[in-house]
Amino acid sequence: MLAADVEVAGQTFPEGDLCVVMLGACNRDPEAFSEPDRLDLNRDASQHNGFGLGAYYCLGSSLARAEAIAALDALVQRFPTLELNPDKPAPVYRPTLVLHGHEHLHIRWN
Ligand code: HEM
Repeated sequence: MLAADVEVAGQTFPEGDLCVVMLGACNRDPEAFSEPDRLDLNRDASQHNGFGLGAYYCLGSSLARAEAIAALDALVQRFPTLELNPDKPAPVYRPTLVLHGHEHLHIRWN
């Protein structure tokens, strides 16, 4: 619930309104990240909000980063030719506001 009136991008949200912050949408802001829907492991994503902000910042972020690096490293070592399968339907996102992800992601490797 908003504790006071808040103005965001020219729109006023009144005190008492229920407000849900879409953290995932922050990371898809094209003004902050070029081509935000493209997987680019080399982009400078140091300003991302994937682990939240401020007082509630994710306590497990260092562990999560280490796990992601280990998992992605193992994946590309094991499947160096991994790619989307162009002969299968394109990836479809789940219709959810909370945990962004795919219904399916058809891949292939040699
Ligand atoms: C990719 C993996 C992860 C992501 C994307 C993630 C994301 C987040 C986000 C966005 C928040 C803030 C929630 C809020 O503002 O209400 C959060 C909080 C938290 N995360 Fe994670 N997290 C991950 C992994 C982990 C792991 C591995 C641990 C523990 C081993 C962990 C422990 C916590 C805890 C304890 C909080 C609450 C912090 C607080 O309220 O003070 N997270 N996480």
